[in-house]
Amino acid sequence: MTKRIIAGSIAEEEAPYELSLRPRVLAEYIGQQSVKDNLDVAIQASLKRGEPLDHILLYGPPGLGKTTLASVIANEMSAHFRSTAGPLIQLKGDLTAILTNLEFGDVLFIDEIHRLQPNIEEILYPAMEDFKLDIGATTRAGLITAPLRSRFGMVHRLDFYSVPELEYIIRRSAEILTAPITGEGCHEIAKRCRGTPRVANRLLKRIRDFADVKGTGEITAPVARDALKLLDIDEQGFDDMDRKLLRAVIERFGGGPVGLNTIAAVLSEEIDAVEDIYEPYLLQIGFLQRTPRGRVATKFAYEHLGIPYRPPQAGLF
Ligand SMILES: Nc1ncnc2c1ncn2[C@@H]1O[C@H](COP(=O)(O)OP(=O)(O)O)[C@@H](O)[C@H]1O
Ligand SMILES: [Mg+2]
Repeated sequence: MTKRIIAGSIAEEEAPYELSLRPRVLAEYIGQQSVKDNLDVAIQASLKRGEPLDHILLYGPPGLGKTTLASVIANEMSAHFRSTAGPLIQLKGDLTAILTNLEFGDVLFIDEIHRLQPNIEEILYPAMEDFKLDIGATTRAGLITAPLRSRFGMVHRLDFYSVPELEYIIRRSAEILTAPITGEGCHEIAKRCRGTPRVANRLLKRIRDFADVKGTGEITAPVARDALKLLDIDEQGFDDMDRKLLRAVIERFGGGPVGLNTIAAVLSEEIDAVEDIYEPYLLQIGFLQRTPRGRVATKFAYEHLGIPYRPPQAGLF
């Protein structure tokens, strides 16, 4: 898969600075209000009673704050945070070693939990009856087996963030990075980061570089616009890949409906990548629609690409 500046997933070199921008407590964790409200009550109750918290499953597209929220929960519980990931656990012994090292009250975070092998997953079941808190995260809730899913008392989906929430996150990150930014500068980035905090922070860093080199260092709206233009990110926060996808649906398949596998083939991408990474945001903002017969491009997609709109033929749905 090609590397995208607007990818929701983390790039290896980003780990250190991401850590510095990561909220530590629930109060610093912006947005996801109903998830936070629910967790807050559960955490307070469990602390009050001295009882363990239910196991938690967090799901949603990459970069929306699953790992962050898991570590915030551990902090709020004053618990040790241990973290691993489905693909890292290749042998039964790998998981057994992790589990035996956990103490009462510890939090075990398992990222990409849908990628645990079935025979390894079974080792987790008895361990989940102990007084340790397991938090699983996944971009693909649909791929979690029923027995595993049923063991999570709380299941929360993280949503894309609103523009005001993203402005808040960008403002906070700019402060930590000591990057001067105007309100309009914040707004410009917030509008174009696909509702995703990780993308917001990444764009902020790139635009800060641009502002330092080409301007006075201050991130204003015009500076942000020029920098984003250089990065080939348009007003909607789309890159070349998004435009290619929409254009393919419209120009090659008459606007759809067209199957996911066909879209993937045309883009030379994997079906999973299209489903997990490319299309969620396009669906969220209503540029693409999911129908039983495949994906359909909406009027917004035509308008954005400057193509005259032709509704899908009647009777196709
Ligand atoms: N609710 C939030 N408030 C502030 N910053 C956030 C929030 N959620 C995510 N972030 C920022 O986005 C980055 C990516 O979040 P992360 O938890 O790693 O996403 P995920 O695990 O869902 O891929 C974090 O390092 C953090 O800086
Ligand atoms: Mg993560």
